[in-house]
Amino acid sequence: MNVLELQNKFQKTHKLNTNFTRMDFRREVANLRKANQINIGPVLHEAIIKTDEGIIIMDNLKPEYDTLIEWSLKAQRDNLTHQLDHKFIHNFLNIIRRMLNSKFLHMDLNFGNIMVNQFQQVQIVDFAEVQIFDDDPFSDLQERYKPIPFLKKREDLLLKELLEEAFISFIGDISECSKLFDKEAFEYMKSVFANGKNILSELIKKNMSK
Ligand SMILES: Nc1ncnc2c1ncn2[C@@H]1O[C@H](COP(=O)(O)OP(=O)(O)OP(=O)(O)O)[C@@H](O)[C@H]1O
Ligand SMILES: [Mg+2]
Repeated sequence: MNVLELQNKFQKTHKLNTNFTRMDFRREVANLRKANQINIGPVLHEAIIKTDEGIIIMDNLKPEYDTLIEWSLKAQRDNLTHQLDHKFIHNFLNIIRRMLNSKFLHMDLNFGNIMVNQFQQVQIVDFAEVQIFDDDPFSDLQERYKPIPFLKKREDLLLKELLEEAFISFIGDISECSKLFDKEAFEYMKSVFANGKNILSELIKKNMSK
């Protein structure tokens, strides 16, 4: 995988091989299209398949947005203009809720896949690993789903278990950078995002108050 910034366009190139096949590439493109339909993710411009590579050309979110990796590096160098707070959490949870209302969930919410601007608006990138639901996942919380191969768990999972899996990298990443978030936001995220049941109840709360 290699990436290239071209002024206002961003090019992501996948080497196509047995680890990442044409079908995987097509799936990622379809996932990005699905996200774009509800104004999530960078706008897709073109997807090109060559003999041994697949190329996605999309909007360049930089420099307006930076990944949380870049935000946390700045925090470590005490180079932040402001810490992230409840606004980030609100915007981030909103994206998760909107995805689920549209019957899909980004399963790889690591700091490299979450981009934030100075107003704490959030964008998600990298739609390679997405769980798709046949029906509204909030309609029956006892329903079990076959997890995508990316997850280590092989047994069918409840929505709350899928949510916990989706946030695993995120929780690992936040525990290393307390300076990035204000105290309240940091404590809230550690308590809520590490537990699928808590994530789900926050999402349902927000769904009812929208
Ligand atoms: N549309 C975009 N605009 C600006 N930067 C982007 C965009 N998409 C991705 N990036 C940057 O490129 C990095 C890598 O992209 P991405 O996360 O899609 O690929 P990856 O994690 O390497 O690939 P994959 O998990 O699909 O193998 C991101 O962490 C982010 O810094
Ligand atoms: Mg990524």
